Amino acid sequence: MNNGTLGSQGSSLDSTCAILYTLLHPCPFVKVAITGTPGTGKSIVGLELARRGWDVLELSEFVESHLLKGRKDRARDTYEVDVEAVDERLKSEHNGNDRIYLGHLTHFLTVDLIIVLRCRPSVLKARLEGRGYSKKKITENLEAEGCDVILVEAMETSIPICEIDTTAMDANQVADAVEEILDGERKKYEPGHVDWSEEVLAWY
Ligand SMILES: Nc1ncnc2c1ncn2[C@@H]1O[C@H](COP(=O)(O)OP(=O)(O)OP(=O)(O)O)[C@@H](O)[C@H]1O
Ligand SMILES: [Mg+2]
Repeated sequence: MNNGTLGSQGSSLDSTCAILYTLLHPCPFVKVAITGTPGTGKSIVGLELARRGWDVLELSEFVESHLLKGRKDRARDTYEVDVEAVDERLKSEHNGNDRIYLGHLTHFLTVDLIIVLRCRPSVLKARLEGRGYSKKKITENLEAEGCDVILVEAMETSIPICEIDTTAMDANQVADAVEEILDGERKKYEPGHVDWSEEVLAWY
């Protein structure tokens, strides 16, 4: 009798735990966008995540290999991309498995979670200079990072967002942070904890 009573309490406790677990770990993330200003480390963390076994897709490579590149914008030294067309193509080719998309336009795709990589502008500047970017392109990207442009664009969607300040992290640590988020940790990476305003104000 006692055992039966205990058993039924146990099973109701089990189901409560299961509900709590589901609430704390909402739907498994099927498609995740890792976005951010150029130079914030999307590709480098993507390499590490792929090494750890994740299915990672560089959006720029997909666009290139599927001949989805639009006209060249000479003034900005970039190519136009019809993100909606790319999204449709990705949807038609997606096999339903977990996948991580990398690229500064991936927050415009149909995804379940957006992770925005951030980097302090003074550190980003050195990275972009190291890539041989023009002064104009560097300034444009630093202003975008300083003013949270990608985060704001991401927040205009209704997709859950996390942001990681990668400034003092190496690729391994950023990959750990991404996996922590995919494991359900949100609080630590809530949007809004990154603020470059002090550095930006010092520019003027
Ligand atoms: N966490 C990091 N620590 C130190 N250096 C980094 C870090 N992340 C990236 N870098 C360096 O910054 C440069 C740009 O990194 P990466 O190519 O991964 O950026 P990206 O976000 O993919 O840029 P893009 O949008 O142009 O593709 C590389 O030289 C890389 O080695
Ligand atoms: Mg890249």
